[in-house]
Formats: sequence, structure tokens, C-alpha cells
Amino acid sequence: MPLRVTVVGTGYVGLVTGVCLAHSGHLVTCVDIDRDKVDMLASGTSTIYEPGIEELLSSGMASGNLTFATPEKGWGELISDITVVAVGTPMAPNGAADLSAVRVVVSSLAEAADRPFTLVMKSTVPMGTGAALRHRYLDEAVVRIGYVSNPEFLREGKAIEDWFKTDRIVLGADEEADRALMRELYADIDAPLVETDVASAETIKYASNAFLSTKISFINEIANLCDCIGADIDAVSRGIGMDKRIGRDFLKAGIGYGGSCFPKDTRALDFIATLNGYQFTLLKSVIEVNNRQRLLPVVHVMRALPDLHERSIAILGLAFKPDTDDVRESPALDIVPLLAEQGAAVRIYDPIASELPVAGAARVADIWQALQGASAAVVVTEWQEFRELDWERVRQAMAGPAIIFDGRNCLDADAVRAAGLTYMAVGRKGEHRFGMNA
Ligand SMILES: NC(=O)c1ccc[n+]([C@@H]2O[C@H](COP(=O)([O-])OP(=O)(O)OC[C@H]3O[C@@H](n4cnc5c(N)ncnc54)[C@H](O)[C@@H]3O)[C@@H](O)[C@H]2O)c1
Repeated sequence: MPLRVTVVGTGYVGLVTGVCLAHSGHLVTCVDIDRDKVDMLASGTSTIYEPGIEELLSSGMASGNLTFATPEKGWGELISDITVVAVGTPMAPNGAADLSAVRVVVSSLAEAADRPFTLVMKSTVPMGTGAALRHRYLDEAVVRIGYVSNPEFLREGKAIEDWFKTDRIVLGADEEADRALMRELYADIDAPLVETDVASAETIKYASNAFLSTKISFINEIANLCDCIGADIDAVSRGIGMDKRIGRDFLKAGIGYGGSCFPKDTRALDFIATLNGYQFTLLKSVIEVNNRQRLLPVVHVMRALPDLHERSIAILGLAFKPDTDDVRESPALDIVPLLAEQGAAVRIYDPIASELPVAGAARVADIWQALQGASAAVVVTEWQEFRELDWERVRQAMAGPAIIFDGRNCLDADAVRAAGLTYMAVGRKGEHRFGMNA
């Protein structure tokens, strides 16, 4: 049975939620305070780059299942039986999750509600937030407002696939009526349900991201050690990952995690732990290793090229990972200003990401413009285009010593070296030893 759904916040998570629920046959209204975003979506153009989203956007609109609105329409009219909150919860300066947008939306909904509905929290919010929102806003409403914590696990770049083929759906609720409604919402998705209380659902989200971040920082530590002792991280990762208890995923060494989730969620979890009087030592190390790891290209480019002020450096990739235009917390944002401060002329190329939130560098539209005359090129994002480069042509374009720092261990090292380029990576066996402590 189609349900009426409102999704508040039409960013990476909200838009994917909206188009996918509309595809499942539900009647969805997506709401955002950003009028330009709403106008663009209402004209049938996606505001984010995400494989498959344009198709679902147009089919949803054509079927009449998907509409867009701003809150100006009035929250009273916008509330549906299921109202999903998917607004941002960015990192506050002290590392906590900034819940101001969540509070604005939940208080507005509670104030405007004149008929019962279920509020579904898809934004990533710290443990205890559901209980606090219930106490402060929902219990004050004149009608019953049910609350469900339904954290989202999609990966940008694979978001649509992840939505329909998710490993699990987590539903944290105190009342069976709300859970039953959620089961109806997701009836067409073949995935196990994890039904639990609100606080446990909130914890599952943070624990998942903290665990994945731990895996990444762990393999990066091993890669740095490989550099020191002359072992090869590719072989080591393969050998570790074959153990089913460990698994193959997230064992790719490189310059660390970025994006809108792992950095902020690990910091927020550390903050919650500290606030509750617990020192989460392991998590603090995970964060520290990641902060250090993203500086590897800077350390080694500076070591190899002491006269940086006379050099051009190409930065290949600005997005925090391939197949997205999201640049939030991308390692490039740390690498670029540091190289620019040393006087290097930094040119950035990314096939999709157009936002340039850093000063001191120029974004170029053509990769050859970035590489022309560059003494070093740093691969920040694992775009397919970079793997397929003609390395002979790259060497002809670059200036000596023509260093390729493969920050994602994604290139064919032999092919790069065969073209006469100097290849550096993270823990890959070669003539160089680049561990942070080497
Ligand atoms: N991006 C991801 O891959 C991902 C994955 C899982 C979970 N999450 C979580 O989902 C939440 C949303 O993340 P995102 O990446 O989609 O954020 P985003 O910044 O892309 O989108 C948030 C949207 O909310 C809108 N908004 C803010 N205040 C509003 C208000 N008062 N009323 C209506 N709209 C409002 C903004 O205009 C924006 O369009 C965060 O808590 C994030 O941690 C994100």
C-alpha cells in the first residue's frame, strides 16, 4: 500500500531517500529550505552527482509520486503519516554533532502538528538525541508523534544500489505501531530488519562508522610499517582479507578517509564518550592516524622537492571518493593549502567535483592542463580516469623529477615506472621507503 511520506532535507541522503521511496510507489514530498535547490529539483535536474539518480528523479516526477516544496508552504500542510528528517548534522568546532538544523525541524513539526504522525530520524544524531527530542518537543505536541531512529548506511557513489540492496534496515522505536508503519514503508526491500530501542539504533550508526574508520586507520598503519620494512601492503591486505572473520573490504591503504560521515561521526562519538566520562582510547588513535595519513603526500613531496616555490604540483581529484561530487573533508582540502603555503603553484583537476573550497590553488577543467610542467602529481581520488592515463604522455607533459604520488594505491605501479616516472604510494613495495617514520 502506498504511504504518504515527507522527507525534510534534500541533500545526499534526503534526495536519495525521496527518489527511492517514490520508486517503491509511495507518495513523497521532499522539503528543503534552500529554494534554489527545490527549484532545480522541481525542474527535473538533480542537485547532486549520484549514478542513477537522474532516472529515478524523472520517473518519480512523471508518475506523480514525487514533488518538491519549501517550508514556506507551512509545516502543517507538509507533515505526512511518515515524516523523515534528513537534514545535515555537521561537525561543531568542539567535535560534537551540530544538531541545530534537526532541532529547528523537529520543533517546527511538533508545533505545527494537528494530526498524529511518525517522525523518522534519518540524520545521524548522537545517542540520547531521540530521547531528548521526545522530551523537549514531541511530548509537548497536541497530538501523538511517534519516533523512529532509522539511521542511513548508504555510500555516496553507490547510494541507489545501497538503498535497494542494503545489508540491513535498523529501526529503533519504543512503540510497535511505529515499527509496523516502517515495515510497510520498506515492504519491497529484501533486507533483514534490526528492530531495537531508539538509543541502540543511534549507537549502531556511530559504532558502524567508527568500526569502518578503525579498519581504514589500521591498514594504513600496517602500510606505513610495510614502507619501513620493505613489505608490500597489496599482498598483506589480500592475505588478511581472505580470512572471513576479517573480510576484504576497507583494507585498501592510502591517504585516509574523508567525506561527510567518517570524520565527523568519529569525532562526535569521541565527544559523546568524553562527555559521559569515558576515554575512548582506540577511537582517538583512529582519528589521529587519519589526520596524519592525509599529510603523507605533503611530507614526501616536500622531501623530494625542497625547492617547492619554483614548482608546479598537480592534484588529481578533489572529491573525497570517486563517483561523487562531494568534497566535504576531502584530504585535498588539507594537502592543497600546505603545498601552496610552501610556494608551489597548485593546479587541481577533478572530473566531477566543481566546488573549490580552498584558497591558493587553481581548478582546471582539463587533466593535461594540471599535469603540464608539474614536478609532482598527487592522486587524491581514485577516479577511473586516472587509472587509465597514458603514462608516456604524462611523462612528456610533466617536468622532472616527475613524481606520481598515488595516494589511493590505485595505479598500475609497473606501468607508471616503465614510463620513466617516479612512483610513490602508501606501503607498496618499490625502491622507495616512505613510511611516515622512515
Ligand atoms: N552523505 C552521506 O553519505 C550520509 C550517509 C549516511 C548518513 N548521513 C547523515 O544524513 C544526514 C544528512 O546528510 P547529507 O549528506 O544528506 O547532508 P546535506 O548537507 O547534503 O543535506 C542536508 C539538507 O538539509 C537541508 N536543510 C537544512 N536545514 C533545513 C531545514 N530547517 N528545513 C529543511 N531543510 C533543511 C539543507 O538545505 C540540505 O539540502 C547527516 O546527519 C549525515 O550525517 C549522510
